[in-house]
This record gives sequence, structure tokens and C-alpha cells, in this order.
Amino acid sequence: MTAKRVVPHHVAIVMDGNGRWATRRYLPRVAGHKKGVDALRACVRHCGDIGVKVLTVFAFSSENWNRPAEEVSGLMELLAVALSREVPQLQAEGVRIHFVGDRSNLSDKVRSGLAQAEAATAGNNRLVFNICFNYGGRWDVAQAAAGLAARGETITEQSLDRAMALSHVPDPDLLIRTGGEMRISNFLLWQAAYSELYFTDKLWPEFDAAALDKAVADYGRRERRFGKTSEQVAAETGRGRKAA
Ligand code: IPE
Ligand code: IPE
Ligand code: MG
Repeated sequence: MTAKRVVPHHVAIVMDGNGRWATRRYLPRVAGHKKGVDALRACVRHCGDIGVKVLTVFAFSSENWNRPAEEVSGLMELLAVALSREVPQLQAEGVRIHFVGDRSNLSDKVRSGLAQAEAATAGNNRLVFNICFNYGGRWDVAQAAAGLAARGETITEQSLDRAMALSHVPDPDLLIRTGGEMRISNFLLWQAAYSELYFTDKLWPEFDAAALDKAVADYGRRERRFGKTSEQVAAETGRGRKAA
């Protein structure tokens, strides 16, 4: 019997390991980030091809401002360049871009690049592509709560959820982190409550279509229980009935 492939609706990725990839080759760290853009391009395409509907990536964290100034400015520049280069192709592939994060302390150049990319792809619906840039999970919870408080709204799980930065998509089903670290690093603290976690030692520039397939296959073998028992899940899905 061939098992039906279970494709996660929403995949989130902490794209880690660019710096180490570059350093191992005696290259500047920014060269690793450039290579990371190539890996991301391929990943977006493969997600669309296998039927993932939402891809959310961590591109720059609230804490990444603490890196050397040269690396921070290199990353800002890379984002601006990558957007102007990649948007026409993403547009052709039916990808809708959203930026998720605090835009208030980004430069005008970066901010207008983000707005243009969002506007240009607003009519697409094959794949929703969320780029978390200047994002932190704690920032997200705080901005959502502050927004509700300012509007005099009651704080409930539902109202907070609606005020969060990823309210336009369901929570991630699969959360991948490359680069070998087993931590969240202030990524989707609220939304990853029930995501399946997948860690790989592969550095982000090496994460290719085969590596994504492997993560998706691993996801397909997980039993998502959401607090219930295995027996309840089996009864609901019709799986595992033969188990003693
Ligand atoms: C992830 O790669 C990209 C960003 C944080 C912008 P790193 O730059 O963190 O790579 P390592 O962890 O130093 O190898
Ligand atoms: C997480 O990676 C942030 C991004 C991938 C953008 P980091 O490399 O910044 O994480 P830490 O600092 O090692 O936890
Ligand atoms: Mg890192």
C-alpha cells in the first residue's frame, strides 16, 4: 500500500547557518547570506510545486540588530536588491508576498521596497510567502496586545490571535530550523504552539528541494494529537484501526 503524501499547508522556516557556510569557505558572512537567497528562491519554488500553500521564513530577527554594523547593512542591502530582482519571477509564479515585522525602524528604501513587492503580488494566490523581517515573537505578542488595548477591546485568545502579525494565515503545521541549533530564537512564539518541529544540521545555503522533501516526509509520519489521545485521533482519521 502506498501511503498518501501528507503535505503541510503552512511551512515556517528559521533559515540559519549562512554565516557558518561562508566562514567555512573563508568568505565574508554576507557571501553566505547571498547564497541563502539562492536557497530561498529554490525553496519558494519547490513549496509551490508540492502544494504547500503558505511559506513563512525568518529573515531578520529583532535581535539581529546586535550584529556588527557591516553585516546589518549588508543584510538590508541584500533585501532591497533581492526584492527588485526576484519580484517579477515570484509574480509570474503566483506568489503573494507579505512582510511581517516592525517596519518603523527600517530605512525608507527598504520600507518602500517592501510595500512595492506586496502591492505587485497582491493579486496572487498560489503560494502565500511571508517574510519575517525585523520580526520577533515577543514584539508580535506585544504589538497585538497594545493594538487591542488602544482600541479598548477585550483581550481573549481569539482577539489576540486576530491582532497578531500572521492573522491572514492559519498557524504553521511544520516549523523547520536549519543550522543545527535546537531553539526558537524568538520566532513564532504564539503561532507555533502546535507546530511540528523539525531540526536539521544542514546549513541554510545547503537546504535544497531534497532536504525539504525529507522534512515534509518526516512531517507526514507524525501523529498530531492536539491534546487528545492516540485512540481518539485514530478514530477520527480512520487510521490505525488495526492496532491491537
Ligand atoms: C541566518 O544565518 C541568517 C540571519 C540570521 C540573518 P546566520 O547568519 O545566523 O548564520 P550562522 O548561524 O552565523 O551560521
Ligand atoms: C535566527 O537565527 C534568526 C534568523 C534566522 C533570521 P540567529 O542566528 O539570529 O539565532 P541565534 O542568535 O543563534 O539564536
Ligand atoms: Mg545563526
